[in-house]
Amino acid sequence: MTFHSFQYLLICLFSSSHCSSHHINIYQGPNNSSHLLMTICSDKEEELVFSGPHLLFEFKGGPSIPPYDYRGFLASVSFIKKMIPTVMTTETTPALTTELPYTARMESYGNNSHNGCGIQILANDSRTGHFNSRPLEHHRNCSIVFVGNPNDVVHLSVFNYKLKAPACQSYLELYDGPIGGNKPMKRICSPQTKHARDASGKFHSHETLMSSGNTFSILLHRLLGETYADVEHIDGAYAFHDEQKDGTLAPDTLCNTDYYGENSLSSGQITNPGNQQIYWNVEGRLVCAHRFIPALNQSITLKITSLKLSNEPGCQTECGDAGCRCNTDLVSLSHVDHLLFMHDNGAQISCLCGNFHEDWLPVSIRSWSPLRLVYSVAHYSWTAQGFNYKTDYSFNLDGACGHHVISNHSGSLHSTRIVGGGELNYYYHQMCSWTLDSNVDRQLTLELATSQNRPCTAWNFTLYEYSEGSSDHLGPIIHTFCPRDKHKVYNLAWRLNVVVIKLTAMTRTLPQYFIKWQSQVVRANTRISGQTSSILSSPSSSFSHAMPISRSPLKAIFLVFIVNLLSLHFVYR
Ligand SMILES: *[C@@H]1O[C@H](CO)[C@@H](O)[C@H](O)[C@H]1NC(C)=O
Ligand SMILES: *[C@@H]1O[C@H](CO)[C@@H](O)[C@H](O)[C@H]1NC(C)=O
Ligand SMILES: *[C@@H]1O[C@H](CO)[C@@H](O)[C@H](O)[C@H]1NC(C)=O
Ligand SMILES: *[C@@H]1O[C@H](CO)[C@@H](O)[C@H](O)[C@H]1NC(C)=O
Ligand SMILES: *[C@@H]1O[C@H](CO)[C@@H](O)[C@H](O)[C@H]1NC(C)=O
Ligand SMILES: *[C@@H]1O[C@H](CO)[C@@H](O)[C@H](O)[C@H]1NC(C)=O
Ligand SMILES: *[C@@H]1O[C@H](CO)[C@@H](O)[C@H](O)[C@H]1NC(C)=O
Ligand SMILES: *[C@@H]1O[C@H](CO)[C@@H](O)[C@H](O)[C@H]1NC(C)=O
Repeated sequence: MTFHSFQYLLICLFSSSHCSSHHINIYQGPNNSSHLLMTICSDKEEELVFSGPHLLFEFKGGPSIPPYDYRGFLASVSFIKKMIPTVMTTETTPALTTELPYTARMESYGNNSHNGCGIQILANDSRTGHFNSRPLEHHRNCSIVFVGNPNDVVHLSVFNYKLKAPACQSYLELYDGPIGGNKPMKRICSPQTKHARDASGKFHSHETLMSSGNTFSILLHRLLGETYADVEHIDGAYAFHDEQKDGTLAPDTLCNTDYYGENSLSSGQITNPGNQQIYWNVEGRLVCAHRFIPALNQSITLKITSLKLSNEPGCQTECGDAGCRCNTDLVSLSHVDHLLFMHDNGAQISCLCGNFHEDWLPVSIRSWSPLRLVYSVAHYSWTAQGFNYKTDYSFNLDGACGHHVISNHSGSLHSTRIVGGGELNYYYHQMCSWTLDSNVDRQLTLELATSQNRPCTAWNFTLYEYSEGSSDHLGPIIHTFCPRDKHKVYNLAWRLNVVVIKLTAMTRTLPQYFIKWQSQVVRANTRISGQTSSILSSPSSSFSHAMPISRSPLKAIFLVFIVNLLSLHFVYR
């Protein structure tokens, strides 16, 4: 036996006249088949000292049949360390090889290089739980190693640690990978202490650590000695996170994940976070954002299948053709529980809160651009965890929209039919853009048309000049086309060579449209230079501007001819 500590008790058992039904049994060992050391049923205060490492206290408080006569007891337990070998017991108990309660596996690193003691925590045994160095033997070096499956990363939250030795003679080293493989990602020198809670019981702000691969290790190096070794420790919680199934965890966050359509599973489910032990010291607002990034030829569908909000009075959900909105009366949205769909640029797309009813489900959004699902709990704590929800996601293979650069001098595009949808709260969210590119000077004629009579807020096209400088390449707006415009032809200015057509939609009905363009390339030496300003023209007014420079009647007739052809084409579609 290497554990020479004693356990010291002060027991006060309240009066009992029936020793058989009111007593405390104390066993030397981990369970009641171990040796029974003594039975206490007096009401005197007693001080008792036992040797470790394991003792079982079994309390019987009264009969299980009426008349009930229950009693309690009060005890204080303290652990003391004696350097002299114990004479009380020399028998070795097999206790140290039994499973620890937090599913950690003890391992002896007898001939290992760091010659110490350790716990190995395997993802196969438990995907989430607590870790604690206290039960480890008192060696100079002890390790806690987390080993996940191939797609896992290790996510840790350190709750408490205490290092008492002076001048960095004890330390903690945190390794992204095995111990000693690389330089530690963090080193904590003694004397230093971290408590999960402050003196009033409130949690300090939490901090998480994440591995880049499937292994993470903690080395606890202790200055051995009477005064320090038994109190120096570290504890916290861990979770293994399967990046393929549960998205890529964003660094330095508790729960923000990214799902890339190219390498995530094509479909899956997400649920509310907050029930893993790493959330134990989270108090206050909890926000988890899940980002879905479809590839160029994909769209993403998110379908909320279950949502249990607590009907807070401060917020009402209103759903219409443009999605659902959270209406808060007096408070800001961050003060109420809600589920929010956002565009990548931060714009809200749809929001559910307060009075949202489960029978309005499912709510689905199909989007051709990155979408963020934000789970927001106003007042989270381990005892009052947030609301529950379930959302199915699927990446669909459909290139109906995206960000395309087209260098064809003429061509056409039209909306594609999509199967699916049809449910009441099924919304289409599109933000697509087509850049009509050209490396030669040209005059563009562009035709936009739709057969849908929808409000402009449901969907619309915006025509932009191309801008090299801005990040999204959107220059000044040339015009906005609303579905009620039905059909428009734009004759753009000479040498407005590159334009961006952007479709924006958030509606229950998939937009139906038709885009056609044509270029007229005329040698530059027939032109007056400097005509680069954008000229926009609608069909009626355009032709005066359409050919601002070369006004040869022949060309004008040619253009009108093209326009008529285009219109005919559209009518017969
Ligand atoms: C009690 O503990 C001992 C030692 O760990 C073990 O061998 C035995 O199976 C346990 N008995 C029961 C009933 O759990
Ligand atoms: C020992 O504990 C088990 C449950 O852990 C219980 O079922 C059993 O009755 C106990 N045995 C004795 C002798 O108290
Ligand atoms: C420990 O030593 C034994 C024999 O000396 C060897 O078989 C074993 O692989 C070693 N274990 C480790 C972890 O190095
Ligand atoms: C403990 O680990 C350190 C490396 O962190 C090593 O230098 C030292 O030799 C180890 N001590 C023992 C007793 O194994
Ligand atoms: C976990 O279990 C799987 C299948 O049972 C096995 O292939 C894998 O190697 C195990 N992982 C670890 C780290 O033991
Ligand atoms: C979709 O795009 C990805 C790359 O973005 C490509 O690997 C894949 O083959 C494409 N699939 C189809 C069906 O076009
Ligand atoms: C552009 O031209 C290529 C080859 O002529 C053709 O395959 C393609 O469909 C055209 N693209 C559009 C958008 O018209
Ligand atoms: C264009 O459509 C989007 C998405 O439905 C909408 O948010 C926006 O307000 C519309 N623009 C105009 C000018 O109506």
